[in-house]
Amino acid sequence: MHTAHLGKLEVSRIGLGAMGMSHGYTSAGTDDAESIRTIHRALDLGVTLIDTAEIYGPYTNEELVGRALQGRRDQVVLATKFGLVAHDGRGPWTLDSSPANIRLAVEGSLRRLGTDHIDLYYQHRVDPNTPIEDTVGALAELVRQGKIGHIGLSEAWTDTIRRAHAVHPISALQSEYSLWTRDQEQILPLLRELGIGLVAYSPLGRGFLTGTIRTAEDVQRLDDSDFRKNNPRFTGENFERNLRIAEEVQAVADQVGATPAQVALAWLLTKGDDIVPIPGTKRVHRVEENTAADAVELTAEQVAFLDRLTPAEGGHHTDDQMQMIER
Ligand SMILES: NC(=O)c1ccc[n+]([C@@H]2O[C@H](COP(=O)([O-])OP(=O)(O)OC[C@H]3O[C@@H](n4cnc5c(N)ncnc54)[C@H](OP(=O)(O)O)[C@@H]3O)[C@@H](O)[C@H]2O)c1
Repeated sequence: MHTAHLGKLEVSRIGLGAMGMSHGYTSAGTDDAESIRTIHRALDLGVTLIDTAEIYGPYTNEELVGRALQGRRDQVVLATKFGLVAHDGRGPWTLDSSPANIRLAVEGSLRRLGTDHIDLYYQHRVDPNTPIEDTVGALAELVRQGKIGHIGLSEAWTDTIRRAHAVHPISALQSEYSLWTRDQEQILPLLRELGIGLVAYSPLGRGFLTGTIRTAEDVQRLDDSDFRKNNPRFTGENFERNLRIAEEVQAVADQVGATPAQVALAWLLTKGDDIVPIPGTKRVHRVEENTAADAVELTAEQVAFLDRLTPAEGGHHTDDQMQMIER
């Protein structure tokens, strides 16, 4: 497995997103044994970046990752996130990046993850009620205390990134970036100027780009708690129109002799060695498939074709979710 840099942090250039093992695409506890085998297989294959967040569950995903890493903690760069749970009684899905909330959040994450330090600690969403300087100031204090190693932001935009980085170096921005969600390309020059890596979340388009979700019935069959049932790209006419994108990715996969998931990941890897996709899966065979994208080579023509893929219909999040995304 090749490596990549997120600021000064070295990681495998393909990571593993753990969210879908307990949240977003399935309920907690669905198949924890297979999820843990998936994390172990990832480590065996050289994946060193594991991604979770306190809001996933909430809490259950961090607990699961903590169980999986028992005895193997030293093999990974462990990343988690705060800021979508207010620990003052207001609870989950409340933006709170105040220093007081961060100090409570980090203790809970450390306990659930069964560790004394988090390697990469991200603000999950920018909190309009807390100046970013205060947030990063509190995080810098955690770095000094050894509780966290590096600081990340998620779905922040230019002004916040610059202001945050002026307080303490930011190692990574984690935002949605994939063949059908390209707006991060506008921010890459700033990230490169500041030496910040880009962690690409939902790099498989929440599974859509893999070609495994092909009919409205496939969407209906998803778990009732599945985010995709309300996602604009997976519903109504948008979904039908977007199928063309999956066909275009499949066409390149056929040329390369790879799977569509591997093509979607290999394309991201062509964009720079400071870009680290974190595909999510809770299945051993898929972590093997996704990790093998490290060895998939695309020709210049194939990259150019993928660069010009049919644009997606529908936003990558619901309107409510977009309220929390800085642009
Ligand atoms: N910072 C943020 O706000 C944010 C937001 C979303 C996600 N994330 C992080 O990013 C990670 C990845 O994003 P994501 O899980 O949303 O989306 P993703 O990686 O684009 O896609 C995950 C979906 O694709 C399926 N899948 C994975 N590999 C596949 C393969 N080879 N063939 C067919 N289907 C495959 C998975 O199903 P199975 O599990 O059944 O294999 C799952 O339903 C998350 O786990 C999370 O850690 C962060």
